Amino acid sequence: MDMSSCSPSITTMIRMDHTHVMAAFHRYHIDTPWWRKRAIVELACTALEIHAQLEEEIFYPALSDAMPGDERLRKSKPEHDKMREDIAKLRAMGPQDAAYDARFMQLMREVMHHVADEETVLLPTAERALAARLSELGQRMTKRRLQLVAKHRPAAIAANTVGTFPLASIALISLGALAIAHCLRPASARRARRQW
Ligand SMILES: [Fe+2]
Ligand SMILES: [Fe+2]
Repeated sequence: MDMSSCSPSITTMIRMDHTHVMAAFHRYHIDTPWWRKRAIVELACTALEIHAQLEEEIFYPALSDAMPGDERLRKSKPEHDKMREDIAKLRAMGPQDAAYDARFMQLMREVMHHVADEETVLLPTAERALAARLSELGQRMTKRRLQLVAKHRPAAIAANTVGTFPLASIALISLGALAIAHCLRPASARRARRQW
């Protein structure tokens, strides 16, 4: 059986990751208890780190063939690096610190800007230029994600026990659900979509 035909496209996975980070952010309010704030931030930061690494290892290299030298792709990696710096600063603070809210908001503002560029420029370009490879790239992303999640798990578990926040595994759970839903669709529909 060709498993790549059963894999969601890499662009669908990327959008889903963005949605999960935004959903975590939307649970963060100024009056949220500090222990919950810390759990939300840890979840969002871990999800962002894994997501950025997956894009850099799999998505951006594939896309650079489709848009060589394009300014909008060239700035993606530096934006990830800036995000990693902001995450490190946030982790070095406690949630009771007066500047904690502002730092998290600043991180999320930059993430939203970056995500907007990806969703309105990079993903549509990939869907035009890499149409035949989207499922195969999605499959590679899933394999690599499993390795990275295993590596990050200790931090995510620590955040969970403090925050009683069952979100650390959400990326994997929803990924599995998406893959199943995708595979349950008639093969003819999948073929038609790929040709398109
Ligand atoms: Fe990105
Ligand atoms: Fe992204």
